[in-house]
Amino acid sequence: MSQSSKTILITGGAGNIARLLAKRLLQDGHAITCLDIVEPSLADKVENVEYETADICDESRLESLLDSRKPDLIFHLASLLSGSSEVDRRRAFQINAIASFNLLELSQKHNPSPTVVFPGTGASYGSGVPSELPETYEQWPENIYGATKVAVERLGVYYKLKHGLDFRCLRPPLVLSPFAPQSALTAYASHAYVAAFNGKPFSFPVAPDIGMSTIYIQDLVEGFVQLAFAPKESLKQHAYNLHAFCPSAQEVADSIKRHRPDFEYTFKPNEIVESMLRPAPNKFQDDSARRDWGWNPRFELDDCTRDIFELLKNTQ
Ligand SMILES: NC(=O)c1ccc[n+]([C@@H]2O[C@H](COP(=O)([O-])OP(=O)(O)OC[C@H]3O[C@@H](n4cnc5c(N)ncnc54)[C@H](O)[C@@H]3O)[C@@H](O)[C@H]2O)c1
Repeated sequence: MSQSSKTILITGGAGNIARLLAKRLLQDGHAITCLDIVEPSLADKVENVEYETADICDESRLESLLDSRKPDLIFHLASLLSGSSEVDRRRAFQINAIASFNLLELSQKHNPSPTVVFPGTGASYGSGVPSELPETYEQWPENIYGATKVAVERLGVYYKLKHGLDFRCLRPPLVLSPFAPQSALTAYASHAYVAAFNGKPFSFPVAPDIGMSTIYIQDLVEGFVQLAFAPKESLKQHAYNLHAFCPSAQEVADSIKRHRPDFEYTFKPNEIVESMLRPAPNKFQDDSARRDWGWNPRFELDDCTRDIFELLKNTQ
């Protein structure tokens, strides 16, 4: 796919990652439509992006959107995340699995050669995995979110092999972001930044040494763009793992403190959060992304800290 102007659909377009992705894609002059069940607030809307408020499970709305826009490139980000998926498994299956099937099935009906970019998840590997995780490690997820993500990865590959769909998948590790949903239990590092920005104390729900493979949201957004526009012939795999760094909770607190000396924090380990993070890999091997499409994260922890405070300042 060339960098020339594309018609792009982002599902889950009001979300944490999508709003920065839409901004980034606009810089290159693409025409962007964001579909989400939630209408973003005026402050969160990106100028010159079209918003469509609809449930992705509504197949006829989805089809009429694909028919009217005929996107060349679809970033399929709409999803229930891990916590909400566990609370309502049926809804998680409808949104994450069935609506994804509909999207893949319909994607070539109104445009014969779209590219579909889909985020899998590190949670698809389950527990008991090595701390430095090879990309080809077997995926046996232990939550409904991971199970639906693996299902869509496999479906996408089926459409690619049997129907010629240009399906591209990446698996981000934990994402550090100032916009992480409050309900995301493992996003405590992201929440610590928001508390520090608002001058509030923060209690890390883990021991100081806990951390896992992490990526800063701006690097992830760049990764989505790089993968989407990489020449098809350079992609040797269906799916790529990403990794940037592995900060412990203490390192996050120290970095915040360097930028906000008044930040007050404690560690109050929570059994559930620790049980999710202790076994998680410190590194997802990302050699294939580096080799095939030049993946090379730019942000170290202190760069993230500086940038997060900047983003929070600009979205006030
Ligand atoms: N944040 C992470 O740590 C992480 C890690 C790996 C993968 N991902 C994946 O990246 C994608 C975006 O994640 P995010 O962090 O921006 O999450 P997010 O919750 O901020 O965004 C998901 C969006 O999907 C929307 N959505 C949910 N149900 C919908 C429906 N029925 N119809 C239309 N829209 C619906 C939500 O309203 C939300 O805006 C997801 O697919 C997620 O699984 C995220």
